[in-house]
Amino acid sequence: MGPTVNSMFSLDGKSALVTGGGSGIGLGMALALSEAGARVTLWGRNADRLARARERFPSSARVWTDVVDVSDATAVADRMGAAADQMDGLDTVVVNAGTAGAPCRITDVDEHGHRRIQATNVDGALWTIREASTIMVARARRGVPGGSIITVASLAAIEGAGRHASYGASKGALLAMSNAAAVELARYGIRVNAVLPGWIATEMTASQQEAEEFETHVISRVPLRRWGRPEEFGAVAVFLASDASSYQTGSRIVIDGGYSIF
Ligand code: NAI
Repeated sequence: MGPTVNSMFSLDGKSALVTGGGSGIGLGMALALSEAGARVTLWGRNADRLARARERFPSSARVWTDVVDVSDATAVADRMGAAADQMDGLDTVVVNAGTAGAPCRITDVDEHGHRRIQATNVDGALWTIREASTIMVARARRGVPGGSIITVASLAAIEGAGRHASYGASKGALLAMSNAAAVELARYGIRVNAVLPGWIATEMTASQQEAEEFETHVISRVPLRRWGRPEEFGAVAVFLASDASSYQTGSRIVIDGGYSIF
């Protein structure tokens, strides 16, 4: 008899790192990964926020937190090894840390703001994927292939985003990077898949959530007629981290309440 549905989705004995895991979609994913049995490490820039995030997990859950700014290549390299050591392995990495910046006309984009977004969303993602895959490839060479890298891109990666040219460009780059990694790493059994959220109620979208105009002009065009919630990203993280998605790599999963096809 083959594996049961429960065993396919189980993350017992597995370890997962979530960047930007102190809030929003990353935290929603981390909570579900933990509930499915994984040991979890959360990275973020803010120790207080990480401590508050830790309180959302049951006390018995095996969860570590570490202050790591993903735009710092040296820190990512140092701390990736530490995360793998403390969790006794590294099976899944969620490349979620991201920043959007304030809306800005393309004629007004300033160099500093543009570089700040690329530093986290592109450079930070690349350092994270580089260091995670180095550990996973070394393990594969020791005879234990496998691993799952989940990138959190955006609808902006395929549609662009008016007044967010730098952000859209960064997410397009992240999607291309995910595909490159999926091709290169497949021979080691490492799968790489992208999740593309639509409009999700998190700190990143706080100002849009407060704007009545946004509700009438944008959220009214979401076929499911509401904002997405961070916890609605838990199941896709468990699916992509687990053996349930063993033949899935190089894919993009849009989760947007139908916004992009309406
Ligand atoms: P959020 O602001 O709650 O989460 C982003 C997290 O990343 C924060 O905890 C932040 O501190 C952390 N972070 C930012 N820069 C970092 C850095 N350099 N190093 C380490 N951590 C860093 O917002 P949300 O919405 O949960 O964002 C998560 C991901 O989802 C981002 O990549 C975002 O671009 C993406 N996304 C969000 C959408 C939304 O509607 N909320 C839509 C599409 C994509």
